[in-house]
Amino acid sequence: MVNVTDLPYRLICKGAGMKYTEMLYVDAILHENRKTENLMTTCKEDKPVGLQITGNSIGEFEKFVKSGRWKKFDLIDLNCGCPSLRITGNAAGSYLLKNPEKISEIVLILKKTEKPVTVKIRLGVKENNVLEVARAVSDAGADALTVHARLAIHGRSVRADWAWLKKVKKIVKIPVIGNGDVFSGDDARRMLEICDGVMIARGAIGDPLIFDRTSRYLSRPPAQRKEEEVNVKENLKLFLKYLELEEKYFGSGVDFSRVKYLGGKFLRGFSGAGKARVRMMVAKSLDEIKEVVKVFDNR
Ligand SMILES: Cc1cc2nc3c(=O)[nH]c(=O)nc-3n(C[C@H](O)[C@H](O)[C@H](O)COP(=O)(O)O)c2cc1C
Repeated sequence: MVNVTDLPYRLICKGAGMKYTEMLYVDAILHENRKTENLMTTCKEDKPVGLQITGNSIGEFEKFVKSGRWKKFDLIDLNCGCPSLRITGNAAGSYLLKNPEKISEIVLILKKTEKPVTVKIRLGVKENNVLEVARAVSDAGADALTVHARLAIHGRSVRADWAWLKKVKKIVKIPVIGNGDVFSGDDARRMLEICDGVMIARGAIGDPLIFDRTSRYLSRPPAQRKEEEVNVKENLKLFLKYLELEEKYFGSGVDFSRVKYLGGKFLRGFSGAGKARVRMMVAKSLDEIKEVVKVFDNR
């Protein structure tokens, strides 16, 4: 997730079977600036981890493959779902759904890396063409497909339509990972009745323990399954760990706006969170942010 899943955040998401970098434009990867370098940082404990990319130029995808900059990742995921105008304006992200043949062509290029290649799609842009796109992805030889069960024009107030996940699963030969509106162990269980895997996104913002809780829920016999409460104190401890990791990996290159945005999410559920968020917004160092958060840790 953009502005969320850098290496430190991924490292505190214990229990997740697989994680991804935030979406990176192939062009940015080829230019090797500091921000992109930070977002491509990984380590042994991060595995298995996927590099998620997008773009529109076949030539750039070819250069990306030749660059070898994907080597430290376990798989490459092509984003065909991002609805942001900044991305679709460049004919990338969800714009690619309009052209399933181009998606196939990109998959074939990425397969030259000999890494597993996966693709993340939505149901369509304005109109649903998910079956056509899913078939193209599968026939091109992708190793798995993630389907966010909404159109690109849909905001989050529109519920993800899981019925389409079932239809996709029926027509493709590759594993299907479902995505959209999974916030609990029981949501994940219901999605696993339809798909081969579950991707959780918003549920992990400010609650990295969601993966651990969900896998515990799923591992219990049905009669003993019960949703556990969100443990805000343990999550806050993980946020403090995250701050340490930000310092360790990025030092003076820390992206403060990201850290503050996430810090605000971790304060949900604590009384006095509003005032603390304001103090955090004006903080000028990781130590100051730590001080704001520690007050709640001792409560
Ligand atoms: C802050 C934010 C950033 C996101 N960034 C990405 C991204 O980089 N790549 C991607 O495939 N999806 C991204 N998404 C979309 C999610 O991966 C996911 O498809 C969507 O939120 C629906 O899943 P959910 O209901 O579990 O949140 C982002 C979503 C949010 C809220």
